Amino acid sequence: MVGVILAATVAAALGLLTIPLVYPSLGLGGHSSRSRGRRRRPSSSPPLQLPTGEPADGIPGLIGNTPVFRLKSISEYTGCDVLAKAEFLNPGGSSKDRIALYLIERAEKEGLIKPHIGCCIFEGTSGSTGISLAMIARAKGYKCHIVMPDDIAREKSDLLVKLGATVERMPPCSIVDANHFVRVARRRADEYTEANRPENGGNGATGYFVDQFENTWNFEAHFTRTAPEIYHQVPEIDVFVHGSGTGGTLAGVTRFLKPRVPHLKVYLADPQGSGLANKVNYGVMFSSTEKEGTRRRHQVDTIVEGIGLNRLTRNFAYLFPPSPAGECLLDGAVTVTDQDSVYMSRWLMANDGLFVGSSSAINCVAALRVAKRLGPGHTIVTVLADSGQRHITKLWNDDFLRSRSLDSGTPQSLDQFFS
Ligand SMILES: Cc1ncc(COP(=O)(O)O)c(C=O)c1O
Repeated sequence: MVGVILAATVAAALGLLTIPLVYPSLGLGGHSSRSRGRRRRPSSSPPLQLPTGEPADGIPGLIGNTPVFRLKSISEYTGCDVLAKAEFLNPGGSSKDRIALYLIERAEKEGLIKPHIGCCIFEGTSGSTGISLAMIARAKGYKCHIVMPDDIAREKSDLLVKLGATVERMPPCSIVDANHFVRVARRRADEYTEANRPENGGNGATGYFVDQFENTWNFEAHFTRTAPEIYHQVPEIDVFVHGSGTGGTLAGVTRFLKPRVPHLKVYLADPQGSGLANKVNYGVMFSSTEKEGTRRRHQVDTIVEGIGLNRLTRNFAYLFPPSPAGECLLDGAVTVTDQDSVYMSRWLMANDGLFVGSSSAINCVAALRVAKRLGPGHTIVTVLADSGQRHITKLWNDDFLRSRSLDSGTPQSLDQFFS
């Protein structure tokens, strides 16, 4: 069902393009105006088209409009055009800048927060969202308090402190536990609002719990910006491959692109220990570590940060629009082991000069496998959400990997991902 038509300014700040979006109320319609392309792009790109006009308006003005580039080694190996959107080039270092900006601006519009009166942004996050929130909070006149699992790479919480946020690290536990980091963040926001009520002697400053997992403004941020950028940059797209943390990126991009690119296939890239792949492939949220009783970590038993889950969030649920059969909009899911994510990170560094984080490595393994399965000639897009610099003490720490019985060697060939 087609809802409201938005004139979404996709590259708002940089003035690159404006795409009218068919924005659903969120049942999504749309139209297909582009035919399937099979032409391989030339391997050398034209010079970068730098935007002209007004300078970007502060740090928020630099968010989005990230370039797409070819993953050369994977493209050569598969005969597909395997492209990556360089989200690690956002000013806060990850794709999470997009939702941080969108959610703060929506909260301002709804009157939930006001700048420069002491309002505080609260979030439970494994790191990247917190870093983006802390940066934008500073830029816009807010405080920021982040609650995170205590086994997340130390450099992320250190960075948060440098960005002016206060940080609480909690032992990982189930979401039903009142001490789960997301639930603690919600509680802290309520406490903050309460303490600052005028009747309690405060100035009315509020605590705003961002709630990236359940807040569907997250989905909207990707539907209205990330997805139109991909559509504009790669109109010949055949396949999109991406992991799911909150599900915002995958659902936003899928629901924007599928009505416009009818032949498009979308695959979930899922780390070991996550139940999402089984939900997509078989309709059941289940991870084999539950079956074996071998889970070592709540919630998701993986060294990979930012993706994988064992519950259905509201953002991920956009991939299951109401239908009699409860069908999923995705065409399948690829589970990737921690070992293969380590191998891919080393491969990309050695062969492409690319220093990626763990979720990006998972995306690339899944893109490689999908490309091989579909055969040469397809245009496949994935996302590099953050760089290896956010993963120095885990994915890029050989001692840590050894402690998890993981090999940090560099594969000799991409054949290794098929053995
Ligand atoms: C590094 C990284 N990659 C990917 C994702 C997944 O994005 P989404 O939350 O939109 O599913 C996240 C989410 O936290 C992340 O931190």
